[in-house]
Amino acid sequence: MSYRLILGAIVGVAVFSSLLASSNAHDYIVVDDTIPVSLTGVPGDPVKGKKLSVNRKKGNCLACHAMPIPEQQFHGEVGPDLSGVGSRMTQAELRLRLVNSKALNPDTIMPAFHKVALNRVLKKFKGKTILGAQEIEDIIAYISTLKS
Ligand code: HEC
Repeated sequence: MSYRLILGAIVGVAVFSSLLASSNAHDYIVVDDTIPVSLTGVPGDPVKGKKLSVNRKKGNCLACHAMPIPEQQFHGEVGPDLSGVGSRMTQAELRLRLVNSKALNPDTIMPAFHKVALNRVLKKFKGKTILGAQEIEDIIAYISTLKS
Protein backbone atom coordinates (compact mmCIF):
# COMPACT_ATOMS: atom_id res chain seq x y z
CA MET A 1 0.00 0.00 0.00
CA SER A 2 1.32 3.39 -0.92
CA TYR A 3 1.58 6.24 1.50
CA ARG A 4 -1.09 8.15 -0.43
CA LEU A 5 -3.56 5.31 -0.25
CA ILE A 6 -3.21 5.08 3.52
CA LEU A 7 -3.59 8.85 3.88
CA GLY A 8 -6.67 8.76 1.65
CA ALA A 9 -8.20 6.04 3.80
CA ILE A 10 -7.61 8.02 6.98
CA VAL A 11 -9.15 11.18 5.50
CA GLY A 12 -12.05 9.12 4.17
CA VAL A 13 -12.82 7.68 7.59
CA ALA A 14 -12.60 11.14 9.19
CA VAL A 15 -15.00 12.65 6.65
CA PHE A 16 -17.37 9.74 7.01
CA SER A 17 -17.49 9.91 10.79
CA SER A 18 -18.02 13.67 10.76
CA LEU A 19 -20.99 13.09 8.44
CA LEU A 20 -22.36 10.53 10.85
CA ALA A 21 -21.94 12.88 13.79
CA SER A 22 -24.05 15.58 12.18
CA SER A 23 -26.75 13.29 10.84
CA ASN A 24 -29.26 14.69 13.29
CA ALA A 25 -28.79 18.31 12.27
CA HIS A 26 -30.18 19.77 9.08
CA ASP A 27 -28.05 21.88 6.79
CA TYR A 28 -28.96 25.51 6.45
CA ILE A 29 -27.63 28.62 4.76
CA VAL A 30 -27.27 31.90 6.64
CA VAL A 31 -27.99 35.05 4.62
CA ASP A 32 -27.18 38.29 6.47
CA ASP A 33 -28.90 37.89 9.86
CA THR A 34 -31.42 35.30 8.63
CA ILE A 35 -31.95 31.69 7.60
CA PRO A 36 -34.44 32.30 4.78
CA VAL A 37 -35.39 28.70 3.97
CA SER A 38 -37.38 26.36 6.23
CA LEU A 39 -35.21 23.63 7.76
CA THR A 40 -37.70 20.92 6.80
CA GLY A 41 -40.03 22.29 4.13
CA VAL A 42 -42.93 21.22 6.37
CA PRO A 43 -44.93 24.15 7.78
CA GLY A 44 -44.55 24.56 11.54
CA ASP A 45 -47.44 23.81 13.90
CA PRO A 46 -48.02 26.77 16.28
CA VAL A 47 -49.88 24.63 18.85
CA LYS A 48 -46.92 22.26 19.15
CA GLY A 49 -44.59 25.26 19.12
CA LYS A 50 -46.29 26.79 22.14
CA LYS A 51 -45.95 23.50 24.06
CA LEU A 52 -42.26 23.23 23.12
CA SER A 53 -41.63 26.83 24.23
CA VAL A 54 -43.11 26.18 27.66
CA ASN A 55 -41.58 22.71 28.13
CA ARG A 56 -38.66 23.02 30.57
CA LYS A 57 -36.84 20.11 28.91
CA LYS A 58 -37.26 21.50 25.37
CA GLY A 59 -37.29 25.22 24.49
CA ASN A 60 -37.62 26.42 28.08
CA CYS A 61 -38.03 29.93 26.65
CA LEU A 62 -39.80 31.13 29.80
CA ALA A 63 -36.60 30.68 31.79
CA CYS A 64 -35.31 33.84 30.14
CA HIS A 65 -38.23 35.49 28.32
CA ALA A 66 -41.64 36.84 29.22
CA MET A 67 -44.29 35.53 26.84
CA PRO A 68 -48.06 36.14 26.60
CA ILE A 69 -48.82 32.83 28.35
CA PRO A 70 -50.55 33.89 31.60
CA GLU A 71 -51.33 30.30 32.64
CA GLN A 72 -47.58 29.81 33.26
CA GLN A 73 -46.37 31.30 36.53
CA PHE A 74 -42.70 32.05 36.17
CA HIS A 75 -41.38 34.22 33.34
CA GLY A 76 -37.69 35.17 33.14
CA GLU A 77 -36.33 38.62 32.39
CA VAL A 78 -32.82 37.94 31.12
CA GLY A 79 -33.94 38.16 27.49
CA PRO A 80 -36.34 40.60 25.81
CA ASP A 81 -40.11 40.18 26.23
CA LEU A 82 -41.32 38.08 23.29
CA SER A 83 -44.79 39.61 23.20
CA GLY A 84 -44.98 41.26 19.80
CA VAL A 85 -41.84 39.57 18.46
CA GLY A 86 -43.88 38.36 15.47
CA SER A 87 -44.35 42.01 14.47
CA ARG A 88 -40.70 42.91 14.99
CA MET A 89 -39.07 40.00 13.15
CA THR A 90 -39.62 37.90 10.06
CA GLN A 91 -39.67 34.11 10.21
CA ALA A 92 -36.25 34.12 8.51
CA GLU A 93 -34.82 36.32 11.29
CA LEU A 94 -36.45 34.22 14.00
CA ARG A 95 -35.02 31.04 12.42
CA LEU A 96 -31.39 32.14 12.80
CA ARG A 97 -32.03 33.33 16.37
CA LEU A 98 -33.39 29.91 17.28
CA VAL A 99 -30.92 27.78 15.33
CA ASN A 100 -27.82 29.63 16.48
CA SER A 101 -28.18 32.97 18.24
CA LYS A 102 -24.42 32.90 18.87
CA ALA A 103 -23.90 33.63 15.17
CA LEU A 104 -25.24 37.12 15.94
CA ASN A 105 -23.84 37.57 19.43
CA PRO A 106 -21.08 35.17 20.47
CA ASP A 107 -21.54 36.21 24.11
CA THR A 108 -25.27 35.60 24.34
CA ILE A 109 -26.50 33.19 26.99
CA MET A 110 -29.34 32.08 24.71
CA PRO A 111 -28.69 28.45 23.76
CA ALA A 112 -28.00 27.58 20.10
CA PHE A 113 -30.96 25.23 19.77
CA HIS A 114 -30.06 23.60 16.46
CA LYS A 115 -26.30 23.80 16.26
CA VAL A 116 -24.32 20.58 16.48
CA ALA A 117 -21.97 20.34 19.44
CA LEU A 118 -18.90 18.51 18.18
CA ASN A 119 -16.39 19.13 20.91
CA ARG A 120 -16.30 18.96 24.65
CA VAL A 121 -19.59 17.16 25.06
CA LEU A 122 -20.45 13.74 26.38
CA LYS A 123 -20.33 11.10 23.67
CA LYS A 124 -24.08 10.56 23.75
CA PHE A 125 -24.65 14.25 22.92
CA LYS A 126 -22.13 14.37 20.05
CA GLY A 127 -23.82 15.43 16.84
CA LYS A 128 -27.09 16.04 18.64
CA THR A 129 -28.96 19.32 18.80
CA ILE A 130 -31.15 20.61 21.64
CA LEU A 131 -34.19 20.86 19.38
CA GLY A 132 -34.94 18.96 16.17
CA ALA A 133 -35.47 20.76 12.86
CA GLN A 134 -39.26 20.39 12.91
CA GLU A 135 -39.37 21.52 16.54
CA ILE A 136 -37.58 24.73 15.48
CA GLU A 137 -40.15 25.25 12.70
CA ASP A 138 -43.02 24.67 15.18
CA ILE A 139 -41.63 27.28 17.59
CA ILE A 140 -41.15 29.79 14.73
CA ALA A 141 -44.78 29.20 13.71
CA TYR A 142 -45.90 29.90 17.28
CA ILE A 143 -43.82 33.00 18.06
CA SER A 144 -44.70 34.57 14.67
CA THR A 145 -48.28 34.71 15.96
CA LEU A 146 -47.15 36.96 18.86
CA LYS A 147 -48.11 40.30 17.29
CA SER A 148 -48.13 43.62 19.04
C1 HEC B 1 -30.82 31.11 28.92
C2 HEC B 1 -31.65 32.19 28.50
C3 HEC B 1 -32.45 32.10 27.21
C4 HEC B 1 -33.26 31.06 26.79
C5 HEC B 1 -33.51 29.72 27.45
C6 HEC B 1 -33.87 31.51 25.57
N1 HEC B 1 -33.45 32.76 25.25
FE1 HEC B 1 -34.03 33.90 23.65
N2 HEC B 1 -32.73 35.37 24.19
C7 HEC B 1 -32.00 35.41 25.37
C8 HEC B 1 -31.26 36.66 25.42
C9 HEC B 1 -30.35 37.08 26.56
C10 HEC B 1 -31.59 37.38 24.25
C11 HEC B 1 -31.08 38.77 23.85
C12 HEC B 1 -30.19 38.69 22.65
C13 HEC B 1 -28.75 38.39 22.95
O1 HEC B 1 -28.38 37.99 24.07
O2 HEC B 1 -27.95 38.54 22.02
C14 HEC B 1 -32.53 36.53 23.51
C15 HEC B 1 -33.08 36.90 22.29
C16 HEC B 1 -34.12 36.22 21.68
C17 HEC B 1 -34.83 36.69 20.51
C18 HEC B 1 -34.60 38.01 19.78
C19 HEC B 1 -35.62 38.93 20.38
C20 HEC B 1 -35.43 40.40 20.12
O3 HEC B 1 -36.40 41.15 20.30
O4 HEC B 1 -34.30 40.80 19.77
C21 HEC B 1 -35.79 35.75 20.23
C22 HEC B 1 -36.80 35.79 19.08
C23 HEC B 1 -35.67 34.72 21.21
N3 HEC B 1 -34.65 35.02 22.08
C24 HEC B 1 -36.48 33.62 21.27
C25 HEC B 1 -36.34 32.57 22.18
C26 HEC B 1 -37.16 31.38 22.19
C27 HEC B 1 -38.35 31.15 21.28
C28 HEC B 1 -36.67 30.57 23.16
C29 HEC B 1 -37.12 29.18 23.50
C30 HEC B 1 -37.13 28.23 22.41
C31 HEC B 1 -35.56 31.26 23.79
N4 HEC B 1 -35.37 32.47 23.16
C32 HEC B 1 -34.79 30.77 24.84
C33 HEC B 1 -31.94 34.41 26.32
C34 HEC B 1 -32.57 33.17 26.24
